[in-house]
Formats: sequence, structure tokens, C-alpha cells
Amino acid sequence: MSKTRILGNTDIEISAIGYGCMGQTHSYGVVEPEQAMVDLMRYAHEVGYTLFDTAPFYGADNERYLGRAIAPIRDQIVLATKFGIIDENFTLDSSHDSILREIDASLSRLGTDHIDLYYQHRIDPNTQPEEVAETMAELIKAGKIRTWGVSFAPIDYIRRAHKVCKLSAVQNVYSLLNTADEATYFPLCEELGLTYVSACPLAKGFLSGRYNAETKYRDGDWRDDMKLFKEEGMTQNRSLLELIQDFAERKNATPAQITLAWEITKKPYLVPIPGTTKKERVKENFGAVDIELSPDEMREIDEALSHMELMNMGRG
Ligand SMILES: NC(=O)c1ccc[n+]([C@@H]2O[C@H](COP(=O)([O-])OP(=O)(O)OC[C@H]3O[C@@H](n4cnc5c(N)ncnc54)[C@H](OP(=O)(O)O)[C@@H]3O)[C@@H](O)[C@H]2O)c1
Repeated sequence: MSKTRILGNTDIEISAIGYGCMGQTHSYGVVEPEQAMVDLMRYAHEVGYTLFDTAPFYGADNERYLGRAIAPIRDQIVLATKFGIIDENFTLDSSHDSILREIDASLSRLGTDHIDLYYQHRIDPNTQPEEVAETMAELIKAGKIRTWGVSFAPIDYIRRAHKVCKLSAVQNVYSLLNTADEATYFPLCEELGLTYVSACPLAKGFLSGRYNAETKYRDGDWRDDMKLFKEEGMTQNRSLLELIQDFAERKNATPAQITLAWEITKKPYLVPIPGTTKKERVKENFGAVDIELSPDEMREIDEALSHMELMNMGRG
């Protein structure tokens, strides 16, 4: 499996598996120590990751850590961040002036003069897609961003925006547990030539098979409130965990690697961005690029999946 992909309609090369920074400061009940995360991300780059994904919504430290990590290797990194959620109360604002304020703040935290891939994190009901796209065109012209994408935007919204300023990527939740986008966003990506960046590709770690109903989470870890990680989720999804485990044994791999290998084998425009705060898992997850799943093996997984009544993860 090639270790790289091309981002959307651009000539920007990205690693076939990207690194998701969110968990360093958000969703898992902790803000990880800065230097350890800077070292971890530099290690991620050594292992082969070149696409790094952050957002202001993950906390100001998230962009700052990443900025420090990539400072010596900026030209080798494809840096993705987001706009449109302007505070921790989930206030949505994609007006022209708000985006201009947001990008300057992100550039300053990231310590760089440009963002390679700038996503609208969530759509703003008060701003039309055409207006957002015009702002993106302005930022491209100013050299502040190279290209842009959207996260969780409706299909019609994407089409309208794309007519004004071409997008390169959509970022939605997709994994063995969340396959609904295959019927909707995949055809759109094929039609418009977009990269599909899959968030939460390990279903927050569930698909690694390393968690069970007795696992204790830190205060503030969202998984403590998710049915998926309780007895009912573990029981309902046992057949999937067994399937992945079986493949892991057959391929001399780990369940997380099988999960990620299944994604990157599925479509040439699919790029998962797993997150981890552990060095050994940074390497393990990227190791999925070395696992070959044949067309028969892919069919076997998809066929088994089609008979399972799974509890999915929701929207991350
Ligand atoms: N656009 C959006 O709205 C949106 C929403 C959610 C996420 N995202 C993006 O997607 C990225 C990834 O999402 P995510 O962190 O929610 O979910 P994820 O990548 O599916 O899972 C991350 C969780 O799994 C654990 N993990 C990672 N590798 C593992 C392995 N090999 N074995 C066992 N456990 C493993 C991590 O814990 P450890 O740290 O302990 O390894 C962490 O708790 C984020 O960083 C963010 O960039 C975007």
C-alpha cells in the first residue's frame, strides 16, 4: 500500500494515514504535558505521518503544541486546522470578519505564515456556503491557506461552496462502526475529486479491542458517558471485535492496524487520522500502511459487516 496520497484536486502530497491532535487536550479528560506531545509529534513525522490535524476548538494549547512540534520541519508537513466554532460553548460563526480574526489567531498559535488545509469545522446557519467559499478564495489569494475543506457539512452545501471556490477535502466520522457515508459522501468525493478524511477511525479506540466494560476512564473522558464503551456496546459489537481480532491473527497485525488498513484499502481517497498520546501506538497505527488486504479479504470483511447489527459511535 502506498504510504502517500494526493490531497483532493491539488498537488499536495499527504501521508495515507494522518495524525489527529485532538486527544492531547480535548475529549479524553486531560491536557497532556507539552514537551511530551511535541516530542511525540516529531516522532510521528519520523515514522511517516505528514498530515497533522488540529483545531482551535480543541483548546489553544492544541494548535500551539503542534506549531512548536513542526517548527523545524514546517515545509515537510501538511498542516490542517479549522474555523467556525469560536468558543467552547460551540458558538458557530463563519462570517467573513470572524474567519479573518480566527485565521490570524491560528497562524499566531501555530507559529506559521500559512495553513495548508483549512476546514470549516461546523457550518454556520447564518452564513451561506457561497460567502464562506468567497472568504476561502480571498485567503488563498492572500497566501494564508493553500486549500480548504468542510466537516459535517450537508452535501448540497458542499456542492454550492465548491462552485465558488473548489474544496479539497471533507472530514466526517467514518470507521468499521460508522459506514453510512459510503452511500452518500463517497460518491460526492468521487464526483468532485475530494479527499475523505476520516475522523475517529478507531471509534475512539473501541476498534483497537483494548477496552472493555470494566475499563476505567479519567474524569472528563467522553467515553465514560458513551454506551458504546459500556457492557451493552461491548456485547452488541462483540462480533465485530472478534472479526477484527481474527484478521489481526491471520495477518500478524493488531486490531487497530486491521481497522486502519481496511480504511486505506477501501478507497484511494480515504485518509484516516487516528489520534494517540502514546509513542508506541503512533508507530503501531502508521504500520497499517504495510498491511495488505486482498480484494477477497476486503469482501470477506464487508460481507460479515453487512450482517451485523452494530451500535455505532455517533458523531465523535
Ligand atoms: N471534524 C470533527 O468534528 C472531528 C471530530 C472528532 C475527531 N476529529 C479528528 O479525528 C482525530 C481522531 O479522533 P479521536 O481521537 O476522537 O478518535 P480515534 O483516533 O478513533 O481514537 C483515539 C483514541 O483511541 C486510543 N488509541 C489510539 N490508537 C490506539 C491503539 N493502537 N490501541 C489502543 N488505543 C488506541 C487513543 O488513546 P491513547 O492516547 O491512550 O492511545 C484515544 O483514546 C482527532 O484528533 C481529530 O483530529 C475530528
